[in-house]
Amino acid sequence: MVFIIAQTVEISLQAFCGVSSSSLYLADIYCKLFSFECEEPILRVLCIQSIFAPMSKLFSPIKIKGITLKNRIVVSPMCQYSAVDGFANDWHFVHLGSRAVGGASLIIVEATAVAPEGRISPEDLGIWDDAHVGKLHQIASFIKSQQSVPGIQLAHAGRKASTAAPWKGRGKVAVEEGGWDTVAPSAIAFADDYPMPVELNKEGINAIVADFKSAAERSLRAGFELIEVHAAHGYLLHQFLSPLSNQRQDEYGGSFENRIRLLLDVIESIKTVWPPEFPLFVRISASDWADGGWDLEQSLKLAVMLKAKGVDLIDVSSGGLVPYQKIAVGPAYQLPFASRIKRETGIMTATVGLITNAAQAETILVNGDADLIAMARELLRNPYFPLQAAGELHESVEWPVQYERAKPTERK
Ligand SMILES: Cc1cc2nc3c(=O)[nH]c(=O)nc-3n(C[C@H](O)[C@H](O)[C@H](O)COP(=O)(O)O)c2cc1C
Repeated sequence: MVFIIAQTVEISLQAFCGVSSSSLYLADIYCKLFSFECEEPILRVLCIQSIFAPMSKLFSPIKIKGITLKNRIVVSPMCQYSAVDGFANDWHFVHLGSRAVGGASLIIVEATAVAPEGRISPEDLGIWDDAHVGKLHQIASFIKSQQSVPGIQLAHAGRKASTAAPWKGRGKVAVEEGGWDTVAPSAIAFADDYPMPVELNKEGINAIVADFKSAAERSLRAGFELIEVHAAHGYLLHQFLSPLSNQRQDEYGGSFENRIRLLLDVIESIKTVWPPEFPLFVRISASDWADGGWDLEQSLKLAVMLKAKGVDLIDVSSGGLVPYQKIAVGPAYQLPFASRIKRETGIMTATVGLITNAAQAETILVNGDADLIAMARELLRNPYFPLQAAGELHESVEWPVQYERAKPTERK
């Protein structure tokens, strides 16, 4: 008997996705079966729905400090190499805006340089000048109008700066071709075809800390509600973390405590201007995937310190520090890092990397391996992935009213 009921419930759950006459009829039966006293037919459907189809993890909201994300899908920051002098333009507006329309809860703007020499390429976004704020404000406002949260990734590329966009062949952009002199913890180039950086002195380090602070102030003025500090993928802050790129003899090099000092200084400086109700994330590369480099054990120690400093979440990526890295790539290949950091330090994590479907994302969350799912390439392929994933998980999420007639259960 129980089996037959369970089967019937399962088959008929489909009918509950919309309030059709069959779902009203089924709700009637279940209400009688479970002795529910509910007069209103629609309410009866919703009651039964909530019992048999509890909210998926992927579409459950999460509150982080003073903001609430409507679901767990994050647009991972993605350089567009489409800015002029650091200025955002209509490409960035449409690119980011359409992903907000697509239903992601948090849209993190690409690596945005805190100083002109911190750009990866001449076409990177920047926020080193007050004049950059205007267009970014328009973008952040639109994202908010879609009930998504606008976030921005603040970055400095260090020794990986002054390089060409992917479709221009990457590698060094010479000064005479619009490039610039680069800086790093130590004078060690990323690769033969990359610029040789100048080792930063104390004054230069202090200037970078101040640049992150000013960038955070401008981010706030631009309307962003979340900052992610980019300390991953072999860029400046990661270069300080890893012994492979940091061979300094002063208080910023050598011991673990010294190598993490710049990142902690940056966090401190941002916190002096960033409101306590708005979240602060840090993206790290949990491993250099190279002998003698930064690894998970150091990431775990760092996570404890970041948590103590008031960082809300670690966005866990990996690699990018050295060209000879050996990465074992596969579906959700970076999840074990996020999972261990979350479990062993108690800080919230986002996982990223080859997460491409709703069931995979849901399983990660149900297993408690991460708190947020950051996605990049799948959201380039399909900005509406969140709306579609909701359908697959039998969630009824709000679509933009302009698109409602395309919602699978709508029949208008
Ligand atoms: C076009 C493109 C640009 C990217 N730019 C950034 C960036 O600005 N900052 C960053 O932290 N990661 C950047 N990434 C890495 C992604 O955020 C993400 O970590 C990576 O692509 C793995 O996720 P996926 O498998 O979902 O694509 C970029 C990736 C792509 C494809």
